[in-house]
Amino acid sequence: MDVEELIGEAFKAREKSYSPYSHFQVGAALLSCDGRIFTGCNIENRAYGPTNCAERTAFFKAVSEGCRDFAAIAVVGGGEGKPPAWCYPCGVCRQVMAEFCTPDSFKIICARSGKEYRIYTLGELLPEMF
Ligand code: THU
Repeated sequence: MDVEELIGEAFKAREKSYSPYSHFQVGAALLSCDGRIFTGCNIENRAYGPTNCAERTAFFKAVSEGCRDFAAIAVVGGGEGKPPAWCYPCGVCRQVMAEFCTPDSFKIICARSGKEYRIYTLGELLPEMF
């Protein structure tokens, strides 16, 4: 897996973020086991509740294309016009990951740049999952 490339794709996806309410822009790049990359951004809504996180956008794109086997996801985020922050997947996104991914092997890469990142397994970020 090319971690830097995956992070780069997440940053590109972040440019598409639709976040006029929070002004917090998130991008994700999901790597399938057969080497495909599905990207996603957060998509907000004036009713707030229908907002979709970048991670789930990427997952739902992939699953709707018939892909269900995943190796890793890179996540980048931060306030609009501000330097990238450490952005961790929310609980709902972790649960969606749990539906499709193996806790011990699926990697979640939280990055501030191509060189500055932290890698966790899904099991570390969602222990004792349902
Ligand atoms: N958000 C994501 O897209 N992914 C995360 O990991 C955390 C939060 C989005 C949801 C909302 O559009 C904005 O960030 C602020 O919460």
